[in-house]
This record gives sequence, C-alpha cells and structure tokens, in this order.
Amino acid sequence: MQQFHQDFRESVKRIYRAFVLVFSALVLVSCFLIYGMIDPGFSAFRQADPLEDYAVVDEDENWDKIENGIHLRTGLKDGVGLMETVNNCTNCHSAKLVTQNRMDAARWAATIDWMQQTQNLWDLGGNEEIIINYLVTNYPVKKKGRRVAIDNIEWYDLEN
Ligand code: HEC
Repeated sequence: MQQFHQDFRESVKRIYRAFVLVFSALVLVSCFLIYGMIDPGFSAFRQADPLEDYAVVDEDENWDKIENGIHLRTGLKDGVGLMETVNNCTNCHSAKLVTQNRMDAARWAATIDWMQQTQNLWDLGGNEEIIINYLVTNYPVKKKGRRVAIDNIEWYDLEN
C-alpha cells in the first residue's frame, strides 16, 4: 500500500511536470507568433544598417525633376542650357527675377556684366553664351502690344 502510494505520487508529479513543460512551450510559441504579427521582419533583433538613414535616393531623384517642360525646383523652362542657367543664376535670387526680365542678348550680357561688377557674380566662362542663348530662346522679348507698322501703302497724290 505504502509503495503504491509513493508510485502514485511520483506519477502525478511526473504528469504535472510534463503538463507545465508543455504549457510553457505553448506560451513561448504564442509569444513568438504574436511578436511575429507585430514585427514580421523581426527587425528589433537585427543589427541596424547605418547606411539606411542616408538612403534619401528619392529626394535626389526629384532634385532636378522636370515635369511638363518645367524644371520644378526653379520653375524654369526646360531647354538647351537649362542646367547652366539653374546652376549659375538661381543661387543668389529667385529664378523669377530672371524670367520676369525679357531682354535681348546684348542687354543680358550687360546685366550679367553689371552683376559681375557690383554683385559678386563670378566669371561664367563659356557658360555665359549658353545661358544668354537659353534666356533669349525661352524668354524672348515680348511683342509690343501695338499692331505691326504698315509699310506697303500705295499713297495717292492729293489733287488740288
Ligand atoms: C552672386 C550672386 C548672383 C548671381 C549668381 C546672379 N545674380 Fe542676378 N542679381 C544679383 C543681385 C544681388 C541682384 C540685385 C537684386 C535686387 O535688386 O534685388 C541681381 C539682379 C538680377 C536681375 C535684375 C536686374 C535689374 O535690372 O533689375 C536679373 C535679370 C538677374 N539678376 C539675372 C541673373 C542671371 C541671368 C544670372 C545668371 C547668369 C544671375 N542673375 C546670377 C546677384 C546675382
């Protein structure tokens, strides 16, 4: 009887232990699954990639984006010499100051001269011609609001 008692208690203990073990395993697995739902990439356990913060590729791509023929950052029209103009003429003032002025090539050259003498504009080298061409082509002098002068008139002589 005594022996039976002890055996019985032993098996109860064993069953109890097995039960606790299985239960703990279940709890662990569910924790794992729930965490997997919250953070599927298990990113908290991975070494952070120090370069990830600097991956601003998107912004770089948009920096000189052109849409519908307009350089978005400056509002300048797309055309030959656009980037030379952007890089040399939008550093100190808005591109609007440039585009609101309609000049011919000679007056552009004079304006650039004036900025170089008084506003610290640098020597543009070969870009000066490219920029002036760009401006004259894309921002031509506006036509005057008056009708074109008539030039082939047949005058008649007034008779006495
Ligand atoms: C180093 C700085 C700087 C750069 C670069 C620069 N400018 Fe200017 N620009 C100025 C300053 C300063 C003024 C005077 C602004 C004002 O009056 O408020 C000015 C004025 C102007 C004006 C108005 C002139 C007027 O008669 O009112 C035009 C047009 C102009 N710039 C065109 C250009 C063009 C085209 C380029 C590129 C070749 C250029 N700027 C590059 C400094 C600069």
